[in-house]
Amino acid sequence: MKDLQDKVAIVTGGGGGIGAASASAMAARGASVVVADVHHASAEHCASAIRAAGGEALAVAADVARKGEVDAMVGAAIQRFGRLDILFNNAGIQYDKAMEDTSEEEWDRLFAINVKGMFLCSKAAIPEMERQGGGVILNCASVASFRPLMGMNTAYVASKGAVMAMTRDMAVALAPRNIRVLAICPGPTRTPITADSIARGVITEDEVRALQLTDRIAEPAEIGAIAAYLVSPEARYFVGTGVVADGGMCIV
Ligand SMILES: NC(=O)c1ccc[n+]([C@@H]2O[C@H](COP(=O)([O-])OP(=O)(O)OC[C@H]3O[C@@H](n4cnc5c(N)ncnc54)[C@H](O)[C@@H]3O)[C@@H](O)[C@H]2O)c1
Repeated sequence: MKDLQDKVAIVTGGGGGIGAASASAMAARGASVVVADVHHASAEHCASAIRAAGGEALAVAADVARKGEVDAMVGAAIQRFGRLDILFNNAGIQYDKAMEDTSEEEWDRLFAINVKGMFLCSKAAIPEMERQGGGVILNCASVASFRPLMGMNTAYVASKGAVMAMTRDMAVALAPRNIRVLAICPGPTRTPITADSIARGVITEDEVRALQLTDRIAEPAEIGAIAAYLVSPEARYFVGTGVVADGGMCIV
């Protein structure tokens, strides 16, 4: 289905994990995608794969916590593709440590990426979307927005709660301007963040599986497919909500 044909999307943190899978899924639905990542090489890797598959993609180096780089990212999208229809605020980090072991600098850095990053990217994208009559902003929240999980870092959980509150507020503020805002809330997904926690023994895959109804953790491609659907016209009735894809974790 090419229902994102003629649409231009920015995916932050698009160099790996859920972001890269989402960028590819959006491109497969016809979108031209700006793959933005703090690591240019990984953004370029994803953009090259999209182009090799016949899609349109541009790699941009951008740290979402830095306003100048975010503004340049949106500028690059407009310069290359002439418009901006979709922003997937996906970039995020987490820590595998207890609250008391988290330094003030680590707390600030996490909030600068996971929360302020969404503010800066949205702030830069909104005028472009408004100028052309509308758009879609998808924020990456988490199952952690809704329930505590033993061993999960408090700063991360707090940031994902903030993302949901921000999503609802943005949805209300931007609906009159035809900008649809919503969130995707993945459960544990097999990405470098999760693989690292499992590899270091912070949590085992069996322990993760025991917390949900599906006997496996999610693959990035299936979360990416949901993200691409949520930014498509077909999903236009999802507004201001967090779409939970967690193998049942939130209900057990
Ligand atoms: N993997 C999971 O189990 C899971 C579950 C729920 C929510 N999430 C959320 O999904 C999103 C993506 O996570 P993931 O698992 O794919 O992580 P990941 O670490 O695999 O990928 C994150 C990407 O973001 C990039 N990035 C990091 N800091 C950045 C910055 N300051 N500016 C721009 N890019 C930056 C990284 O280089 C990387 O390419 C995050 O918001 C995360 O909180 C992940």
